Amino acid sequence: MAVLIDGKATSQAIKDELKAKVEEIRKTKGESAVPTLAVVLVGDDPASAVYVRNKKKACEYIGIGSRSIELPAETCEEELLALIDDLNGDAAVTGILVQLPLPAHIDENKVIERISPEKDVDGFNPVNAGRLFTGRPGFVSCTPAGIVELLKRHDINIAGKHCVVVGRSNIVGKPMALLMLKENATVTVCHSKTVNLQEITKQADILICAIGKPRFFGAEYVKDGAVVVDVGIHRMEDGKLCGDVRFDEVEPKCSAITPVPGGVGPMTIAMLMYNCVQAAGMQ
Ligand code: GUN
Repeated sequence: MAVLIDGKATSQAIKDELKAKVEEIRKTKGESAVPTLAVVLVGDDPASAVYVRNKKKACEYIGIGSRSIELPAETCEEELLALIDDLNGDAAVTGILVQLPLPAHIDENKVIERISPEKDVDGFNPVNAGRLFTGRPGFVSCTPAGIVELLKRHDINIAGKHCVVVGRSNIVGKPMALLMLKENATVTVCHSKTVNLQEITKQADILICAIGKPRFFGAEYVKDGAVVVDVGIHRMEDGKLCGDVRFDEVEPKCSAITPVPGGVGPMTIAMLMYNCVQAAGMQ
């Protein structure tokens, strides 16, 4: 039986640590030193609205301020960029998050690049991506950062292991590979065009599945005793959630595995809150 890597409990533990830290900041440095996150939502995508609500709830739990800015879908790029300029210049705002995706008429890259790197708690700004690339301190994308934290808190050794990352997005796959390299893993990055994917994933001691296809990875992709991390989250026809991994098939083969839901998902918000507290400490 594989160890179940519990993202829900780990996320809760991190949030409780941050809550204590924020209480301490409030007591010793006063209200003005407490972090405030500005969350910008453009349009009325229902999934984005749920994510934003959960982020605000996490802020409330930890005791940090949150400012919510909801704009209509017709908002033009210039307006959004001007809002970001205002938030960049507002000393009371210590973190800025623009929920993605944005409506098609807005250039996401332009928006991400406009957020001050020191307030970029998502870690999406190329300055922070570059800091990760060059091994300097900066904000790291929350999902991959959460995965490393999850492995460490479950005493899973990373150094020297062969880590195969399947997926190459700027938000998950690429930063994931760099973080595992930083932890001294030997890293292979695969993607949807990789030839003989199975041959490569079967060599993984740690397999990170972020291909974005529901129940794609079966037992044939996994080495006996591997650690499997499932980054996918998909709603099935019956309303249930599933990941990129066929959990029922893969679980008996591996030494440890993250479930969906309750694995990687809850860690993303915990790491966002971690970044928010870091941001305020630096400003
Ligand atoms: N949309 C889906 N995930 C994310 C995220 O982590 N950050 C932002 N800003 N938008 C998202």
